[in-house]
Amino acid sequence: MSVFIIDGGVPLKGTVRISGAKNAILPSLAACLLTEEKTILKDVPDLEDVHTMCNLLNSLGAGTTFNKKDKEIIVDASSVNKYTAPYELVNQMRASFLVMGPLLARKGRAKVSLPGGCAIGSRPVDLHLKGLSALGANINTGHGYVEASVKGRLTGARIYLDFPSVGATENILMASVLAKGRTIIENAATEPEVVNLATLLVSMGANITGAGTDTIRVIGTDRLHGTEHAVIPDRIEAGTFMLAAAITGGSITLENVMTEHIKPISAKLREAGVEISEELGVVHVRSTSNPKAVDIKTHPYPGFPTDMQAQMTSFLSRAEGTSMIVETIFENRFMHISELKRMGARIKIDGRTAIIEGRVPLMGAQVKATDLRAGAALILAGLCAEGRTEISDIRHIDRGYERMEEKLRALGARIRRE
Ligand code: UD1
Repeated sequence: MSVFIIDGGVPLKGTVRISGAKNAILPSLAACLLTEEKTILKDVPDLEDVHTMCNLLNSLGAGTTFNKKDKEIIVDASSVNKYTAPYELVNQMRASFLVMGPLLARKGRAKVSLPGGCAIGSRPVDLHLKGLSALGANINTGHGYVEASVKGRLTGARIYLDFPSVGATENILMASVLAKGRTIIENAATEPEVVNLATLLVSMGANITGAGTDTIRVIGTDRLHGTEHAVIPDRIEAGTFMLAAAITGGSITLENVMTEHIKPISAKLREAGVEISEELGVVHVRSTSNPKAVDIKTHPYPGFPTDMQAQMTSFLSRAEGTSMIVETIFENRFMHISELKRMGARIKIDGRTAIIEGRVPLMGAQVKATDLRAGAALILAGLCAEGRTEISDIRHIDRGYERMEEKLRALGARIRRE
């Protein structure tokens, strides 16, 4: 099993290009199941999760061709003839559950393993199922699977989500585009990845308005056609690199960034004293020698993203003063903290709140990535720690960061995979 070895203490300098967003490509791949024509997805990041989703589409009978040089995937879902997303794949990657809506809408049936818990909480799918059921699906759960079926077509409905879940919004949206009549999704998620999915669906011929607001309206169509679609840049990868510059006392430029999407991250970094300037698609980050403590509360978009919470914890260990982080989205997303403490961080947890003492010198240590963003937080800590850090279980990091160590090395970091 591979590990990352990091020798800390180098201020990062240079330019990095941000890859396509993991959380945009995964629903986009699922959406390709909605048409029998070919779909071409562009600016696709080469990530473990992307391979897992392609394997799932292949196992359903679709054909996927990943042209890595051109960052392009061609999906041919004309011969989809299976309806089951097995436990092994869903257990590996929760986003596999996103095939349920499209399979049900185009084929009238889907059987998907229940995702169960993961390192950051219990993560139920009740909102997905409530929405699909409102569209007319018969839903049965048993033996660890959810089976959904419909006779004929789904029927449009008015659906209110009790929480603006990203995955539930995407699953219901994908199901509704082929339903009979009008669907209204209220209290929908407004994340940029939902908007990117709606853009893809519209270019396949769907009739959708309001994506990016809390009310999405859909008028169902009989069939969708193939298209070409570009995946938006990854705002979480961008935020992670911004923090890598800030935590090492460095100064870097990020290319391929939607500056609008990283507003909550830029705002908090500016509050901490980090200099950030933006041009079209480009962000310059210049650290301050004396970052200040800031308080953070995670929220659905456009609030501060939960996917940046762990990385921010590492950074705030270096800031002047005491910071407070409140995690409101996931119930158990502080797994990185016990590992950061092994590196010398002084953090107390009280329920969903973490209190971080700043100006603490971090020391290299052997630590374990418990999930994707926890792994990113440990990389950041390792980059600024005194001495050597060894991070194990880096398969979690490979799920969502493309060539992380190569990109960091190009900025001067001493990091290698062993
Ligand atoms: C997506 C992102 C993930 C991010 C999260 C929140 C992808 C592939 N993953 O995950 O990186 O951290 O959004 O921004 O896009 N919930 C329910 N019932 C449901 C669905 C969700 O109670 O049916 C709860 C979850 O337990 C959680 C909250 O809603 O507490 C947010 O989850 P959700 O927005 O659905 O996250 P995901 O789509 O799984």
